[in-house]
Amino acid sequence: MALSLHYYFILFFLLTISKSNSNPSLQNDSNADGFKKWVSWNVQTYKRSSSFEANLGSNRLADGPGPLDPKLAKAEAAKVKYIVSQDGGGDYKSIREAVESIPLKNTRRVILDIKPGIYREKIVIPKSMSFITFLGRSDSPAVITGNDTAATIGPDGKPMNTFHSPTVAINSNYFVAANIRFENTAPYPDVGQAGGQAVALRISGDKAAFYNCSFYGTQDTLYDHKGLHYFKNCFIQGSVDFIFGYGRSLYENCYLNSIAKRVASLTAQKRTIATMESGFSFTKSTVNGSGLVYLGRAWGDHSRVVFSYTFMEKVVISGGWSNWHIQLPEESGVYYGEYQCSGPGANWTGRVHWAHLLTDEEAQPFLGTYYVGGETWLLGPPVAP
Ligand SMILES: *[C@@H]1O[C@H](CO)[C@@H](O)[C@H](O)[C@H]1NC(C)=O
Ligand SMILES: *[C@@H]1O[C@H](CO)[C@@H](O)[C@H](O)[C@H]1NC(C)=O
Ligand SMILES: *[C@@H]1O[C@H](CO)[C@@H](O)[C@H](O)[C@H]1NC(C)=O
Ligand SMILES: *[C@@H]1O[C@H](CO)[C@@H](O)[C@H](O)[C@H]1NC(C)=O
Repeated sequence: MALSLHYYFILFFLLTISKSNSNPSLQNDSNADGFKKWVSWNVQTYKRSSSFEANLGSNRLADGPGPLDPKLAKAEAAKVKYIVSQDGGGDYKSIREAVESIPLKNTRRVILDIKPGIYREKIVIPKSMSFITFLGRSDSPAVITGNDTAATIGPDGKPMNTFHSPTVAINSNYFVAANIRFENTAPYPDVGQAGGQAVALRISGDKAAFYNCSFYGTQDTLYDHKGLHYFKNCFIQGSVDFIFGYGRSLYENCYLNSIAKRVASLTAQKRTIATMESGFSFTKSTVNGSGLVYLGRAWGDHSRVVFSYTFMEKVVISGGWSNWHIQLPEESGVYYGEYQCSGPGANWTGRVHWAHLLTDEEAQPFLGTYYVGGETWLLGPPVAP
């Protein structure tokens, strides 16, 4: 992460300091205390759901008796579908045209049935345009591609920065995508090159789900910016920090493919204060590819990442985790854990001493869709056309 991220880092550092000063209890928040608070937050949220017992230890989608968010239920009951086809045989010829036709304060589920094709488009879904679904074909997923980087000059004559580099940026809530390939094809950045960050997808909206999607990029492929997110059966490829941000996300059955040439980090999770309910959980996944990767590096002194039931090829560096700018990770709120992982990359022998091999009880909050409060909003994959 180059210049702009350093700025953010300094900014958050200052924010963290000022917050700590105004609330001295945060300063003493040891790793263990922070974790306990978080576990109890999880368990409480989880107990409110009537499916608490039924959900324990399972990863089933919360399609049961849980109280579905009423706004979402209403949107689903009124759903509409439009066909996007480049050959002119549908309702719209481009995804952008389809998105522009949707009312800003949309209240119904709008499914864009996107026919196979390579869509060279830059798409930004505005914040108030909720309930959008991008649905592709499993045998021939639509490809949405672009190549903007942080250094690309935007319409205002200034570099876009990482935030505006995405091929697809989602700012709204309740977004769903299935069978879509999101790409940023910017060339692999040279060592030390500034502005090489090139995001394929940024998800800044709350309660978003991605099924059987793929994300291709090099540096900063998937900007898991903020909100509750669920990724299932996804393929994610990149080099430096290829999953980053401060989302609270569950990645289930995903394939994480490093194309690093030397040493890079798979995640850069940006939890900056103990009160942030943020963190990445990877379960039943595979880590593979080239170079050597850290499972995570601490972009924030409460960075939180857990891998469970994941097969790790030897691409994972033996230390496993990087403290990056955090001087004393064991005394900070950084929380990196592993549970029931396997493969040569999961060998615990060389692990940094401040990483955690989780107990059953410690791992439990991270293992199911309850981790992202799924019982109120996860409906499972949309039915393919
Ligand atoms: C997921 O997408 C791939 C192509 O990207 C396809 O081969 C596979 O059948 C899809 N799986 C499901 C479960 O739809
Ligand atoms: C980005 O893609 C466009 C269109 O294909 C191409 O003209 C341009 O050279 C590419 N830029 C970079 C930096 O690869
Ligand atoms: C990891 O990648 C190598 C090389 O492509 C391949 O031979 C191996 O089967 C992969 N492992 C897994 C678990 O996918
Ligand atoms: C783990 O790594 C150590 C040191 O490299 C090695 O001696 C040991 O055999 C490895 N364990 C497994 C199960 O591969």
